[in-house]
Amino acid sequence: EKGTYPHFMLKEIEEQPFVMRNIITKYKDENENIKLDENIRQAVLDADRIYIIAAGTSFNAGLVGKEMIEKIAHIPVETHIASEFLYNMPILSQNPLFIFISQSGETADSRGVLVNVKELGHTTLTITNVPGSTLSREAEYTLHTYAGPEIAVASTKAYTAQIAVLAILSVETARAKGIEIDFDPMQQLGIAANAMDIFMEKKDELEQMARDYLSVTPNCFYIGRGMDYHVCMEASLKLKEISYIQAEGFAGGELKHGTIALIEEGTPVVGLATQESVHLNLRGNMKEVVARGANPLMISMEGFDEADDKIVIPRVNELFTPLVSVIPMQFIAYYAALHRGCDVDKPRNLAKSVTVE
Ligand code: M6R
Repeated sequence: EKGTYPHFMLKEIEEQPFVMRNIITKYKDENENIKLDENIRQAVLDADRIYIIAAGTSFNAGLVGKEMIEKIAHIPVETHIASEFLYNMPILSQNPLFIFISQSGETADSRGVLVNVKELGHTTLTITNVPGSTLSREAEYTLHTYAGPEIAVASTKAYTAQIAVLAILSVETARAKGIEIDFDPMQQLGIAANAMDIFMEKKDELEQMARDYLSVTPNCFYIGRGMDYHVCMEASLKLKEISYIQAEGFAGGELKHGTIALIEEGTPVVGLATQESVHLNLRGNMKEVVARGANPLMISMEGFDEADDKIVIPRVNELFTPLVSVIPMQFIAYYAALHRGCDVDKPRNLAKSVTVE
């Protein structure tokens, strides 16, 4: 039920701080330690390489997951689009672990891969919002994202829930390997939840930005580097599927290798810079597009020369920034679709779960 909300999407965006807190509770035991099935921990420890398989928004969460697992747990990870992997399997490592990320647990492309790799005898884990689903039943192990039912076609809370679970998994694996971690993941998720809350109070501002930047434009670009690039891909998917604005997420440095030719007077370009090592490079990329007439909307983090930026996210651990930076992006996509008269919860040509190949 969407209650007093005009759309499920808006309700689901706003539920995200609650979902974070719910995940913290569900993944803690009575001694405040992380609760994780011993077999899952062992399966990750045994892997010499992890293959994340997913589609759409879940694939975008998988890109963030790769960064987290590699940086926190030091295990190499490849994230693959399910429908590509299905017919173009790369050379696998000796002891791979397959992680399927799927909100619905019913995505046919991902299931196709699951069936194939099970036949090859590989270990499988599904991260899903629907524990009784096909991918959950057919994989050896399941981790639940506890986001509650997601009804809007555009995935929002499932994305941040998937990332939160991947963070917990990364840290637990690191600890089991004896890698020293200088932060508490549950505390970081709590900090992210509080940072999300701040944007719930800034809806009017975000609505105005959607109006200013996206009411009439035929296209929009999102640029970021590293973790921010992955969020840009998710932000652009969100915008295009519900507002029908042609949108693309790009690696900041890649734009000048071709796509910058599309920048015209007034083209909106959203820049995201929350990562210490690359934020200045991204600002440089924004200057390049502004010089060609782009209409810039800069999003950054506290402490990163943010004085002139349109949106500033509160300071959070760099690996957890996607949980927060995606929130204004989701709101902006929502309001852009609304202003353009689109059917926000049920965009054209799309189904909530894609159960055919
Ligand atoms: O249920 P899944 O997570 O497996 O679904 C994958 C995609 O179909 C899904 O994320 C889709 O891209 C959403 N419409 C994105 O908002």
